[in-house]
Amino acid sequence: MLNRKYDLNDGSTLPEIGLGTVNIRGAKGVNSIVTAIEENGYRLIDTSTNYNNEGAVGEAIRRTDVPREQLIISSKLPGSAHDYDKAITMIQESLYRIGIDYFDKYLIHWPLPKQDKYVEAWQALIDAQKFGLIKTIGVSNFLAEHLERLIDETGVTPATNQIERHPYFNNKELVETNKKHGILTEAWSPFGRKINDVLENPVIKEIADKYAKSPAQVIIRWNVQNGVLVIPKSDSKAHQWENLDVYGFELTEEDLEAIDGLDKGEPGRVEDQHPNEYEEYV
Ligand SMILES: NC(=O)c1ccc[n+]([C@@H]2O[C@H](COP(=O)([O-])OP(=O)(O)OC[C@H]3O[C@@H](n4cnc5c(N)ncnc54)[C@H](OP(=O)(O)O)[C@@H]3O)[C@@H](O)[C@H]2O)c1
Repeated sequence: MLNRKYDLNDGSTLPEIGLGTVNIRGAKGVNSIVTAIEENGYRLIDTSTNYNNEGAVGEAIRRTDVPREQLIISSKLPGSAHDYDKAITMIQESLYRIGIDYFDKYLIHWPLPKQDKYVEAWQALIDAQKFGLIKTIGVSNFLAEHLERLIDETGVTPATNQIERHPYFNNKELVETNKKHGILTEAWSPFGRKINDVLENPVIKEIADKYAKSPAQVIIRWNVQNGVLVIPKSDSKAHQWENLDVYGFELTEEDLEAIDGLDKGEPGRVEDQHPNEYEEYV
């Protein structure tokens, strides 16, 4: 089941839905990614050095019959490698771990503004793109002020910004900021990582019942209709299928507004990971 595409500001395209891979690792993880690609039709695989599963992603790429050029492999630069030289080396090491010679997409995982090296890291991604190591460069968890600094100081606008977004924290202002800069928003933890009860929410359940769909499908549809790429994680074959099977129905304006109305603002974040405070130095 192939899904539709978003056009990016660098001329490339991405599918509307990709596979998140947190906690998908080891032999079971390889099988799960191969199933997602071969049996369910996923093409975009979202990984990160921090997920400790770039090996499993690489093994799945080698095992699948789907040609490399049809896959979109995306990873992320960890906080320990924001120095220019370390960033270039990290990108190379990530490629070696996965066993591929270029990334289709590569993001700075967190801005870490207290460390204040994200512009240097961005310059490394710009150069790695020129060296042919990455096709599309982007960021993750960048707020308006971080995006503006990147653009002002390097003249290069990220193609995507992957941010926390689910019905209890819809991050609407940042989605708008991204749009203003021509940056595609990618939504992480669309189901609130199942830490919150968003998949049990009565408003979402009622909308789901109306279309004979699941709450998960309604949340994915809400993202797609808002022009947001979404990367649900699932290692279940049935859930993976369900999460792509969102093209036979359309939410109304009232449905979209009702879901927007569930936003709780800052307290709605799943694990209180504010990008100005959250530190990851893996
Ligand atoms: N850039 C960042 O800083 C950042 C941060 C967090 C996450 N991410 C990315 O975003 C991806 C998704 O976020 P996430 O893994 O935190 O959580 P998530 O996608 O919100 O939730 C995953 C949970 O939902 C379950 N699930 C999946 N499909 C379902 C369905 N159709 N019905 C019911 N339950 C379903 C999964 O269980 P099963 O596996 O059993 O289906 C799993 O327990 C990550 O895997 C990662 O790639 C990026």
